[in-house]
Amino acid sequence: MALDTLHDLFVHELRDLYDAEQQIITGLPLMAQAAHSDSLRKLFEHHIEETRDQIDRLYELFEALGVPFTGRSCKAMQGLLAEARETIQEEADPEVLDAALIVAAQKIEHYEIAGYGSVRTFARELGYKDAVRLLEKTLKEESAADEKLTRAAEGRVNAKAATADQASV
Ligand SMILES: [Fe+2]
Repeated sequence: MALDTLHDLFVHELRDLYDAEQQIITGLPLMAQAAHSDSLRKLFEHHIEETRDQIDRLYELFEALGVPFTGRSCKAMQGLLAEARETIQEEADPEVLDAALIVAAQKIEHYEIAGYGSVRTFARELGYKDAVRLLEKTLKEESAADEKLTRAAEGRVNAKAATADQASV
């Protein structure tokens, strides 16, 4: 597909995100299974639900645009998920594995935030109001998921500090 107009690029990036989300829907359950802490597993499970809604929003967008949603394979997400799978297969201390899963998940979220942020801006420029609304919803969910992951990482550090304090008493 030629990228002659901003509209073409908009569709191109939406297809990339569609493929990325499809990969995430298969990859996230493995990350949830591998999580050691209940709260991290629940966080991943909640994001699987959100990802389903995000895919539905993309379907809605493609339908409104009257274009097929296939045609792109997101190589970046293939790489990010391949790294996550490698981490899961690693022999690791359960707590360190959780820290590694948080890193992997945040890398995925940041990719999505960059993609959704850009297509939202394109939609705004193109005057596609409904698309802006749908994409902003998803962008908010991705940002919230990223913030929760940051808090999960901080929670781990605090818990560890508390244990270390007890140990030094
Ligand atoms: Fe997503």
